[in-house]
Amino acid sequence: MKNYDFIVVGSGIAGLSFALRAAKLGKVAVITKKNASQTNTSWAQGGISCVKDPEDSFEQHVADTLDAGAGLCPREVVHTIVSEGPEVIDELISWGVEFDRKKNGDLELGREGGHGKRRILHHKDTTGREIQDKLEAEAREHKNIDFYEHHFAIDLLTTAKLGFATPPRCVGIYALDERTGDVETFRSDRVILCTGGSGRVYLYTTNPNIATGDGVAMAWRAGCEIANMEFVQFHPTCLYHHKEKSFLITEAMRGEGAELIDKDGRQFMKEYDRRGSLAPRDIVARAIDLEIKKTGGPCVYLDITHKPKKFVIDRFPNIYETCKRLDIDITKEPIPVVPAAHYQCGGVSTDVNGATTLPGLWAVGEVACTGLHGANRLASNSLLEGVVVSKRALENCISKMPLKIKPEKIELPEWESGEVTDVDELVVIYHNWDEIRRLMWDYVSIVRTGKRLQRAATRLHNLQREVQEFYWNFRVTSELLELRNLVEVATLIVDSATRRKESRGAHYTLDFPERNDARFQENTKLNRIIAR
Ligand code: SIN
Repeated sequence: MKNYDFIVVGSGIAGLSFALRAAKLGKVAVITKKNASQTNTSWAQGGISCVKDPEDSFEQHVADTLDAGAGLCPREVVHTIVSEGPEVIDELISWGVEFDRKKNGDLELGREGGHGKRRILHHKDTTGREIQDKLEAEAREHKNIDFYEHHFAIDLLTTAKLGFATPPRCVGIYALDERTGDVETFRSDRVILCTGGSGRVYLYTTNPNIATGDGVAMAWRAGCEIANMEFVQFHPTCLYHHKEKSFLITEAMRGEGAELIDKDGRQFMKEYDRRGSLAPRDIVARAIDLEIKKTGGPCVYLDITHKPKKFVIDRFPNIYETCKRLDIDITKEPIPVVPAAHYQCGGVSTDVNGATTLPGLWAVGEVACTGLHGANRLASNSLLEGVVVSKRALENCISKMPLKIKPEKIELPEWESGEVTDVDELVVIYHNWDEIRRLMWDYVSIVRTGKRLQRAATRLHNLQREVQEFYWNFRVTSELLELRNLVEVATLIVDSATRRKESRGAHYTLDFPERNDARFQENTKLNRIIAR
């Protein structure tokens, strides 16, 4: 059994910023299922929102966030996170992160959909990679941080699950070492979930392969409250190309004047919203979905050809190079784009300190639901949330579980494999994986109906039984564990969507196409699901 002061699961911005601060106080294990750099953070292009322009204000950033969130963001949570932004940006810079600057040294601020001002700090169009690289380099140097890469967190260990007659709390985790096949036991009184989102539950997504909802599924099985899972944000502009299925075309491009057009060059967005191509994401994604259905075409296009070639290449070098490899010259021709699943606005229910409903467990970043994103996240607010809430989570766990109190001696049982054998038919795992992603895309994506949701629920119920059988009868592998989590998270999304009898933010259903404030005033602050 490995003992730590802090166990951090996940190695993106939330996990690494937590680890870097916590390492000043005690020993930290960072457990991550692939290489530490394989995270959602690495793929973030646009940037991190923060009030830096003297013409801007916290109040305006709060107002834009509340507006995008469609009535579901608790104002005090938004205000706290927005107003602590400048402090954590300085901290990121102190860890070596470089943001683009103007010739005079001032930060160059970008603009994205739903933001009334320029307030996006960025590093070209690879902001996430810059943050990931710098935080990771800093963390690898730290003697108090141990990385456990290729370790897949299977389940949280709780006093309730272990049958202890003490109040329920989290006391550690089991993790599979992918390379040896052994399951290791980690013990700590402070477990922080920073596992990112669940975009891979959909057939088309801008997320990397690792985004399989592991943290939400684990927390759910441990009895935590989960909230707002129906609000899956679809990014309007994922590259449409058979060789690059998950490549994001950053919203920052629309912030710099790119326009959405149809195949005949018609700028259609003004017909849907006065803000045109820069309307909040839910509106743009739905408009594109409608245009595609109306015209029968496979995609729409994003056009930035009216901007000087040098500007486009300097500002968006990653997109320029990737598209060029695919024979698309973005300085000369419009980019084919489609919406794709991008961000999980709900998650493990927490307060603004990342505290979950299970003592001993905190959740930070996309895995969590502080309420900041409400029914629809404002672009580039997520990196900000990750780095602000990770700071507050550390303060919170130290005050609740002071390090000077010696951890209670608990002997955690070793993982027992029982009479299991190796999975005999991997094809079943791959088939079920494909089936979940296809049915979620067909029945539970941008436009929903009660009938489609019910179909999805029935199919998922059967899949869940099958996956459970696999889990008990075969030796665990990361493929099987991901499938187990995917089916769990898909079910949570469908259950939450079914319970919301209105359209709001990222949840749109043809059965109830209007927002219903009267009916939902009290009970839709968070669509909470309490574990079975
Ligand atoms: C983007 O670059 O468009 C993504 C930014 C975000 O999702 O916040």
